[in-house]
Amino acid sequence: MKRIAIILLVLTVFASVAWSQMEHGMMGRSDRQSYSQEEGEKLFELMSISRGGQLYDNWWKATVDTKKPENDHPLWKEQSSNQRGGYDTYRCKECHGWDYRGKNGAYGKGSHYTGFKGVYEAAEKMSIKELEDVNKGVISKKHDFTAQISNKEIADLALFIKKGLIDTGKFVDGEGLPIGGNKRAGRHIFKRNCAMCHGAVGTEINFGDSEKPEFLGTVAYNNPWEFIHKVRNGQPGTRMPSAIINDWSEEDILDLLSFVRTLPKDTSEISWWSRRFGGGMQRHHRMMHGDGHLSGERGFGASQK
Ligand code: HEC
Ligand code: HEC
Repeated sequence: MKRIAIILLVLTVFASVAWSQMEHGMMGRSDRQSYSQEEGEKLFELMSISRGGQLYDNWWKATVDTKKPENDHPLWKEQSSNQRGGYDTYRCKECHGWDYRGKNGAYGKGSHYTGFKGVYEAAEKMSIKELEDVNKGVISKKHDFTAQISNKEIADLALFIKKGLIDTGKFVDGEGLPIGGNKRAGRHIFKRNCAMCHGAVGTEINFGDSEKPEFLGTVAYNNPWEFIHKVRNGQPGTRMPSAIINDWSEEDILDLLSFVRTLPKDTSEISWWSRRFGGGMQRHHRMMHGDGHLSGERGFGASQK
């Protein structure tokens, strides 16, 4: 009798979990679902695309056995407006932009301006092979990344550029204001997929420092292009989920952006939110080690170098 009751209880819990996953479809597939070969290949491709997106963001953080360059990139000398130096000058996004438009996009002005073109047109006109060749220095010797990353990474980058880019102009206008988006729907997505790590109002992880804090709301508000890129591809070196792998629609991402940009952007706004929402603010999920920085972990397992 007791055993049957336990079995029934387990079945009920299982069914309700499966049902809520089916109903909302946001948390990825239920484990019980089996993949066809075609679906398996599709998933594998989505994983490579999102990995390529993370490499584009920060290839050193997205790999475990690469060396962080200390000098400036050989092409860096060809511009003088962007004053950064060292590893930053090796990040694809630093020269080509979070919106993939380089000088024609958000990096067309401000401290990130380099005058370098984007990769959006290359995605349309170049084949995957040609996109790989760019990063092997076949087209221009100075654009050779083979000393930094492996061929597998170069292949993932090419796949990301060919199949993973989106037209961010469909989400935000030139000033970074969202074009539409349903905040209520965005709030629902946030609660189910982001709050467990970033906290109820996106302030649990501070990407800046105590002096100049940067919360989720800050990023979504100040740099929606970066926000969109990271939501789609995931944050390099962390277990943050990827909207590309989870097959979210463009509408989901726009809804999420329109909600998250209303969250606190600095410390003064937190007190307003905590008065409104009370204790939930104090909960601490330690995603990172004590000093607030990521641990040595930046892994996806060893790369094939
Ligand atoms: C230091 C700046 C810099 C960095 C870092 C950089 N690129 Fe480039 N990239 C350039 C420049 C400059 C060109 C040449 C554009 C031209 O033809 O005028 C270029 C060209 C390209 C092109 C071809 C564009 C076209 O339309 O012909 C692709 C694709 C590309 N880069 C991808 C990447 C990827 C992927 C990364 C990261 C691994 C990366 N780049 C890192 C500066 C950079
Ligand atoms: C499993 C935990 C986890 C989940 C779930 C998660 N994140 Fe993250 N996220 C992180 C970690 C860890 C960082 C890295 C913090 C750092 O590098 O300082 C991060 C960084 C970010 C950043 C980059 C901020 C910056 O400027 O570097 C953005 C944007 C972001 N997350 C958005 C989201 C959104 C939106 C969701 C929900 C769709 C989400 N995250 C879900 C763990 C998570």
